[in-house]
Amino acid sequence: MKRTSNAQQLLQARYLLRNPSGKIIETPHELFKRVAKHVASAEKKNKGGWEQTFYTLMANFHFLPNSPTLMNAGLPKGQLSACFVLPVEDSLDSIFSTLKSTALIHQNGGGTGYNFSKLRPHGDRIVSSGGTSSGPIAFIKIYNTATEHVKQGGKRRGANMGILNVDHPDIEAFILAKSEGNKLQNFNLSVGITNDFMKAVKEDTDWNLINPRTGEVTKAIRAKSLWGLIVSQAWKTGDPGLIFLDTINKHNPIPDQGIIQSTNPCGEVPLLEYESCNLGSLNLSKMLKSEKDEKRVDWEILEKTIEASIRFLDNVISVNHYLLPQIETQTTNTRKVGLGVMGWAEMLARLEIPYASEEAIELGEKIMHFIQSKSYDVSESLAGERGVFPSWTNSIFHPNRPMRNATCNSIAPTGSISIIADTSYSIEPLYAIAYLRVGIMGNKIQTEINPAFVESMKALGLWTEKLKAEVLETGSVQHSKIVPKEIKKLFETSLEIPWEYHLRHQRAFQKFTDNAVSKTINLSKETPVETVSEIYWTAWEYGLKGITIYRDGSKADQVLQACRLN
Ligand code: CDP
Repeated sequence: MKRTSNAQQLLQARYLLRNPSGKIIETPHELFKRVAKHVASAEKKNKGGWEQTFYTLMANFHFLPNSPTLMNAGLPKGQLSACFVLPVEDSLDSIFSTLKSTALIHQNGGGTGYNFSKLRPHGDRIVSSGGTSSGPIAFIKIYNTATEHVKQGGKRRGANMGILNVDHPDIEAFILAKSEGNKLQNFNLSVGITNDFMKAVKEDTDWNLINPRTGEVTKAIRAKSLWGLIVSQAWKTGDPGLIFLDTINKHNPIPDQGIIQSTNPCGEVPLLEYESCNLGSLNLSKMLKSEKDEKRVDWEILEKTIEASIRFLDNVISVNHYLLPQIETQTTNTRKVGLGVMGWAEMLARLEIPYASEEAIELGEKIMHFIQSKSYDVSESLAGERGVFPSWTNSIFHPNRPMRNATCNSIAPTGSISIIADTSYSIEPLYAIAYLRVGIMGNKIQTEINPAFVESMKALGLWTEKLKAEVLETGSVQHSKIVPKEIKKLFETSLEIPWEYHLRHQRAFQKFTDNAVSKTINLSKETPVETVSEIYWTAWEYGLKGITIYRDGSKADQVLQACRLN
């Protein structure tokens, strides 16, 4: 187990167990043993064998579960899920009891999403007191402040997704919420978009805003100007993103259980209220083999890894500690899991396929198709062994396909676990060839040069101290006089890749992902506002479930910065 210094620091700061006086009392090896043992305890037969399988899976960095599982498995009342959606009804009782649930979830490592659209708008009547309502944005601010002060197990702050539907009377204030004094830094904000709204934008008609309490139209607004407001705010601040509610519900595996209104914080899992989901990610950079001096995808190892990972995630549902009875009921009813990927950009670089290429898109589809179909096969065979998920008879799988899990795949951002596995994030392109990683461990700053790039240059005998200094200085290799053209193309970074390719990768993976894909379309600072409009529109046309952009420099607290060393 060779760990980079970043991975080591992250493990020490947040994952390895400590005694009451704060001294670290486990090694990374013992961490994986602890997690493997706990997850294997769900097995009826051959617990020891499964423990070894799960241990190897993680210790080789072929697969890692989401952070709460790594942090909490094996602890008394260990909460293991990353993703939750909670209800917000139009009453103080509901708003504040959900706030309490939020605090408990954040304290135990989870993130929470909510749709605030049932709340009556700002200034609306309150019959009991004779006063007027504060409206959803005021309550989002309260949730944001509470989040600020509840750290996840003392390790990191919780993340939230706040959604307001596009026909809510407060939608304009919601769109503008992040440019006010209160930056709502613990929230991702997304507008809940319907196909009817997109049609109104296309046909340039008026759009009605409706009071959810009374059903009355409070205002008609030109759909195009609302669209323009969304797009210009996203250009300015990165928020709001969009979530496409009709697309999500078209793919809802159990329509009888109700309409899905929200996703988890980063958007990769649409969930019913009180549902939670356990995530895990395959490390694609490890799914390679060398053949005749060339690297190839190792489909065999990929298949074996999928088999063990889906079983692992199904076990997590069984050994999880649920913080609320409602969460236990909903989660064990659908048994949703989300197996995704990390290290996609690294895999491509090692296969010598540029991210911005047709070949990369085709391989992305092929790999995710494979992951989905094998995941479904494993879930089906688990159903034979352990029984179908309880609400299976109401699901789209009934009667032809017995399934253990209502969903199998999600592409999460892998913000922490890809650092532990020392590979590229999720399906994102390389962010920079050299990093200053700021903020992960407070004020400790780490530099990193992409190891695949260093290897390529060493193989050509072109790796020099001069080149190292140059890459550290700029974070890019595009202007180098030493780096050959083909290598430059392989190591294009996120901001150097055209948005069209960002979006096509998201579509390629979404095609074969039953939940959703969390992806940020990174844009250079000079990108015009019209491009953001085009991206948001194309995302809907592509059938994506959500979309987020980030224009370089538009948020002050960027965690990853490709910045100059001097
Ligand atoms: O890498 P890791 O497993 O820690 O997490 P991720 O893939 O970056 O994020 C997966 C999910 O974890 C997010 O969508 C959130 O639901 C949750 N999360 C959170 O609650 N708080 C954070 N600070 C980061 C992630």
